[in-house]
Amino acid sequence: MRIILLGPPGAGKGTQAKMISQRYGWPQISTGDILRSAVAEQTAMGREAKKFMDAGELVPDEVVIGVINERLTQADCQAGFLLDGFPRTVGQAEALTTALAASGGKIDMVIDLRVEAEELVRRLTGRRICRACGQMFHLEFSPPATEDVCDQCGGELYQRADDNEATIMKRFDVYRQQADLLESYYATGGAYHRLDGSAPIEEVRGALLALLDG
Ligand code: AP5
Ligand code: MG
Ligand code: ZN
Repeated sequence: MRIILLGPPGAGKGTQAKMISQRYGWPQISTGDILRSAVAEQTAMGREAKKFMDAGELVPDEVVIGVINERLTQADCQAGFLLDGFPRTVGQAEALTTALAASGGKIDMVIDLRVEAEELVRRLTGRRICRACGQMFHLEFSPPATEDVCDQCGGELYQRADDNEATIMKRFDVYRQQADLLESYYATGGAYHRLDGSAPIEEVRGALLALLDG
């Protein structure tokens, strides 16, 4: 299966993508994670992307499309994949359609997680991430057993640079500018599903699995 997870910042794309990826074996491809790695490694792309990410703006389409096109040609993507945070614009969606069509493929399912803005702010300001394994925590909704330590690997937990109130607001604005256009792009093909992401993590997971297994 080739799946896209859409949704606003904090909707739970990363949290759910990790679970789906573990269950079905499809790789989770998060453009945000790939870009953050490039920033940490201070590659040329990372230095360029950092300016946009710190401002809560989208990294230019040509950069992100290049990243995805390269990633999708790797062997682990051939049996399916799960895109988390891509596409973000109709231009990116069109590029993806074209890239998949070149090898006779297409997206099987688009799942659009929707959550209200107030809840999203709570989720993002309380989020903590493991520096070593990328596992997501939340100070209130899924706290680690020991403060600032990852339950899975013992790594150190950190807060993302763009998870401050001002940048979060900018990210919401950017999301709102693109969301309807992306929904329209995918709405006609029959692959589009909107899913309420406001329930607790396990409930959203159940609804997602029902969709995928249905
Ligand atoms: P990206 O990393 O994709 O960030 P985002 O879209 O803002 O989404 P988040 O990762 O913040 O949220 P999420 O939906 O993954 O939520 P999570 O599961 O962590 O992108 C970052 C930046 O990179 C962009 O701003 C842009 O600059 C650039 N970029 C990335 N992709 C790009 C692209 N395609 N084009 C251009 N630029 C791009 O959950 C959040 C928190 O809530 C966690 O603490 C979690 O534990 C908790 N939580 C999750 N689900 C629930 C639940 N059901 N109930 C309670 N708590 C929950
Ligand atoms: Mg994420
Ligand atoms: Zn960890």
